[in-house]
This record gives sequence, structure tokens and C-alpha cells, in this order.
Amino acid sequence: MAQDSAENQGQPREQWSGTFGFILASIGSAVGLGSIWRFPFVTGENGGGAFVLIYLACILLMGIPVLLSEIVLGRSTQRNPVGAFRRKAPDTPWFLAGFIGITATVLILAFYSTVGGWTLAYTWDALSGEFGSITVGQAEARFGSFIGEPETPLLWQALFMALTMAICYFGLEKGIERTNKFLMPMLGVLLFVLVLRSVTLPGAMEGVHFLLYPDWSDVSLTTIFEALGMAFFSLSVGAGAMITYGSFLSKKESVPSAIGNVALFSTLVSLAAGLAIFPAVFSLGYEPSTGPPLVFITLPAVFAHMPAGALFAALFFLLLTVAALTSAISLLEVPLRYAGDEFGWPRGKGTLLIGGFIFLLGIPATLSFNLLSDVKGLAGLPIFDSMDFLASNVLLPLSGLVIVLFAGWKWGVSRLLSEAKGTSDNGMPFKFMWGFILRWIAPALMAIVFIFQIVSSL
Ligand code: PHE
Repeated sequence: MAQDSAENQGQPREQWSGTFGFILASIGSAVGLGSIWRFPFVTGENGGGAFVLIYLACILLMGIPVLLSEIVLGRSTQRNPVGAFRRKAPDTPWFLAGFIGITATVLILAFYSTVGGWTLAYTWDALSGEFGSITVGQAEARFGSFIGEPETPLLWQALFMALTMAICYFGLEKGIERTNKFLMPMLGVLLFVLVLRSVTLPGAMEGVHFLLYPDWSDVSLTTIFEALGMAFFSLSVGAGAMITYGSFLSKKESVPSAIGNVALFSTLVSLAAGLAIFPAVFSLGYEPSTGPPLVFITLPAVFAHMPAGALFAALFFLLLTVAALTSAISLLEVPLRYAGDEFGWPRGKGTLLIGGFIFLLGIPATLSFNLLSDVKGLAGLPIFDSMDFLASNVLLPLSGLVIVLFAGWKWGVSRLLSEAKGTSDNGMPFKFMWGFILRWIAPALMAIVFIFQIVSSL
């Protein structure tokens, strides 16, 4: 059977070294550019506080149920997203959700590598002391001219993809686990320092107010749709990444603690990124709704207001690059595992061919800030934004919806919840509540948001 080809060839499935390795890798996947780069600009474009509250509700009521279903499904079947559905429900169309997820990871990694390239370039520039006493106006001009021409950003993007592929090539323990263990905690500490600096700038409270005070008059259906996409993106759910990571988890380990940690850390990092950015944006008299470049323009200007700012800037962009890499490897791992499980592709071949393909797909995303800036894709958006929109706001929630429907109705909540516990603990706390949310609340809310979105765009 093609499905079992990797095992048939005598290669046992790789496993995490333990729960700790798994939790770190999952946090590494969740915490990335999504929390630090995407959350602030999407919040800025959607009016601030009310968006943040809706985002938190989406994490709790929809993100966590999908996260739970994905990890348990992966662990139970030890398979990639498509194979996992095929094992649980052979000869039914449920596996299509797996394909939607895989398509989402390929698309996300394509435009993610554009931004990953920016972070690498900024790390390099910060190390060369380029941000010494930069003002926000200068930072804006500088970023504009950097992304405004094609060659340099493309080279950095290629380097980012090459690094991602190299880590995946080395496999789970040597590549993915080691990268996560030291660098994620360091990023947390640095972000904390940055928040302290930002909220103590003159006039910073206006930014804190923007982020935390909900102004409901700004909320539209689009806000809710964006918040749902953001919640899924920042938790790494709906893409099958957590099915894939769960498939490397031994049946002994317990899943609930992993879920709590992933949800907590990715949310905290998003909020911290917001607190690092918006007070500075307002204090420096800048615009919150600048879109994708926001972080790259405001943060260099914040660092310029700090003692030893050049050093902090270099450290920050370095750690941001690492956070981006630990998410990028989880994105690449999804199609890799699919090709490995279903077609027996060895790691080397998969990494080269799939990674190479994704790099090619990412080129138009980078060029949409220069050569292809006039080309419009979906909903009249530039290519980069169209890819983000399609993957984050359509594909992730769509496959998330199918996953919870599958878990709650086809597979069954009681089977899912009893598989969630390992041999070492008592299982999921608040079982009844999660069962109810999984079966009723999460799918109903997701379906309503979807239907309204479709009706309103007709
Ligand atoms: N969660 C990652 C981030 O915030 C992105 C991601 C999305 C990774 C989906 C895997 C799957 O950067």
C-alpha cells in the first residue's frame, strides 16, 4: 500500500525526544512572523482593541478546538494530513481537508519567505549598525527603497528558504528540536525589554489605548473574518501542521498540556508584539494602518531611542529570524511528510523539490512590492496580499471547519478526548465543555462567519 511506503522500506517513523521537545517545536511553529509581524499590522488595519478582543474569542472558541483535533488526529494515525483522514475514514472525501491544509502551507510558506528574507536583511543591517539614530521617516524611506527593487530582497528570500530547507533536511531532533530549545526563550525576554521601552516613550498611552480599548463602532464583518484568519494563522492551525507535528508524538505523552502552552505563548507573544509596536507608533507620530511594512518601519525607530539600541536591534531581528525559521520548517514539514508517507520520498528529495517549488512560488510575492506592483490578484489586492488572504482567511478557516466537523461528528468527541490523554495523566480538563465547544460552538461559529463573508462579497 502506497500509504505505508516509508515504514515498509524499513524506516521507522521519526519521533520527538519527548513531550518537552514536542511542546517546544509546536510553540516554535506557532510563534513566528504571525505574532510579531502579522498581528500588529492586521490589528492596525482593523482598528485596534475590538479586533484584539474578537481575536482572543476566536482563539478560545475556534482555534483551540481545531488545535486539539489536529494534534490528536495526527498522533492517533501517525500520518500526514491527507493520510490521517484516509486512515480514519477510508473511501470518504474527508481527506480533501488535508489537501486544503497542504495547499495553505505551500502558499503561506511562499509569501512567508518574502518576509523571512526581510528579517534576514534587517538582521544583517542591524549588525552593521545601520539603524544608529534613525527616525521613523528615514526608516520608512529606507524600507521603501529596500523592497522597491527586486534583486536584494530576492537574494535574502533565497537564503531564508535555503536555511529552512537545511533544517528540515537534518530532520526532527537534530534540526527542528535543537533550533527551538534555546532561541525561543531568548526571544521572549527581548520582546519584554522592547515592550518596556515602548510603553515608557512620551505619549505612549495613546497606543496602549488603541490596542486595548475596544471601539465597537469600527467592527464590521470583515473584522471578524480577519480575526478568525489571524487566530488560525498565529496558532498554526487549519494547515495540517499540527496534524503533522502530532504524528511524531509518542502515544504515551499527553496532549492537553501541549495545547495550553501553544495557545498561551502564541497569544502572549502577539499581545506583547502589539504592546511593543503601537505605543511607539503613536509616540513617534506614525500611522497604525501601514500594512505589511509596519514592524520594519517602527521598530528600527524605537531601537534608536534606546541605550545600546544598535545591539538590541541586531539581537531582535536575529531572534525574529529564528522565530520565522521555526515556523517555516513546520510549514515545509507538511508537504514533506505528505510526499514521504504517500509516495515514499526520502527527506533529501522532498526538501529539494518541494522547497525549490515553494521558492519559485514565492518570487511573485516579493516582486509584488516592485516589478509587479501594478498586478492585482484576488479582490483587487496585490499578489502578496492575495496569497495571504487566500491562505489565511479562506483556506485555514475552511480546513479548520472540516477538521472540527470530522472530529466532533465523524470520529466522535469521546474517542477524541480519550485519545488526547497519554498513559501518564488523567486527560483533558473540562472534558464536557470542550466536547460541547467542539461539536456545536466551533463549527457553528465558523460556518456563520463563512456564510456571512460569502453573502457580503456577492
Ligand atoms: N503560526 C506561524 C506564525 O505565526 C505561521 C504558521 C501558520 C505556521 C500555519 C504553520 C501553519 O508565524
